[in-house]
Amino acid sequence: MSQLLIEGGYPLCGVIDVQGAKNSVLPILSAALMSDGECSVLNFPEITDTYVAIDILRALGAKVVKQQDCITINAKNADGYEIPYGLMRKMRSSIMFLGSILAKNKKAVISLPGGCELGQRPIDIHLAALRKMGVNIEENHGFLECSHSGLKGCEISLSFPSVGATENIMLAAVKADGVTDIYNAAREPEIEDLARFLVKMGARIKGAGTDHISIEGVPSLSGCTHRVIPDRIVAGTYLCAVAATRGNALLKNICPLHIYAVTSLLKEAGCDIKIYDDAVSIECDKLKSVPLVRTMPYPGFPTDEQAPFMALMSIASGNTLFIETIFENRFKHVGELLRMGAKITTEGRVSLVEGVKKLHSATVQATDLRGGAGLAVAALAAEGSTVISSVEHIYRGYENFEYNISELGGKIKKI
Ligand code: EPZ
Repeated sequence: MSQLLIEGGYPLCGVIDVQGAKNSVLPILSAALMSDGECSVLNFPEITDTYVAIDILRALGAKVVKQQDCITINAKNADGYEIPYGLMRKMRSSIMFLGSILAKNKKAVISLPGGCELGQRPIDIHLAALRKMGVNIEENHGFLECSHSGLKGCEISLSFPSVGATENIMLAAVKADGVTDIYNAAREPEIEDLARFLVKMGARIKGAGTDHISIEGVPSLSGCTHRVIPDRIVAGTYLCAVAATRGNALLKNICPLHIYAVTSLLKEAGCDIKIYDDAVSIECDKLKSVPLVRTMPYPGFPTDEQAPFMALMSIASGNTLFIETIFENRFKHVGELLRMGAKITTEGRVSLVEGVKKLHSATVQATDLRGGAGLAVAALAAEGSTVISSVEHIYRGYENFEYNISELGGKIKKI
């Protein structure tokens, strides 16, 4: 279990090129499985989750070649329909290979993804939709055994605008017989990016990015080339780190609209934010708390930014109430922030943060991907040197993390 040593108190200043979006490239790699040709995916982030997805594609028989930040996938002869247990357990979002495997084969066998640090993470919405499309699904000793005699388009209304379920249905629907209408669909930018990729392959999709997506099945999908959108969550995390250290930085290669919910709260907290076409600059010398942060489906404040923003608010003047409406157990980083001197009271899905002047160093443990990133934000601002263990969580989603922080003047190293 590797550790990071971070000496806090150095303002982060300079320029960062933001990586490609993890939560866009993962469903896109799944979609590439359905192509009869060759797909090239650019702006590929080098993080552990994307390498797990490559291992899954290879386990299913696809040829995958990586050159710099371009991944080429040829899945023409990939006739695998089982995802190895070990890979399913490495990354729960492997569930979104189910839709593409079923679009390509008459059967699929995958293990139940299991819970994760954020809570139970059920897949009932995914399974109800696939059953409606004609998939017979049996749960057997922790495995899902799926089979069908042809996927049928249908009307599906989601009980919650689940990102993964929306993506899985899109993947199953693009080659189904007839039209699939998804109501109460997730509207995240990553959904739109997946739709752009699928349309380039020849799919017929309307409404991605809205709460009603309509997909008309086509007989086959060709290859294509696609550049993945920038990672809005990574961008927001670096903005929080610059603000926490009273720094001054320019983040390039981002879609400002995708992080509007975060930049508007940072402005309310007293940061000087400038928006350009594909960049955002931030400068912060005085930080005040914002009274309420409620996580919501896009375009609301993203649940994935809750921990980094909480680290920032823990050193702002005043109180902030955090309401985590998306996941039932996404405050595991609170206990670690308390060890650094933060003042936070948590009850269920609500946390009250009373800003303190300074955090102090401590030995802390990353509990999950974004919780770990939040601890790094706190450590960069804290007095003294903090050791964060289990930093593999951070490497799941943040490419070249130490390099980027060091380039901005942060004192960070792996130990
Ligand atoms: C995606 O997860 C993201 N992961 C998550 O990012 C993100 O936090 C989440 O969307 C919400 O934005 C990827 O895209 C790979 P959901 P997903 O289905 O699809 C409940 C990160 O840090 N639900 O929208 O799993 C679920 O329990 C990760 O990058 C059901 O009840 O999220 C949760 O409470 C973490 N039944 C809520 O919906 C279902 O069948 C949102 O889940 C599916 C979901």
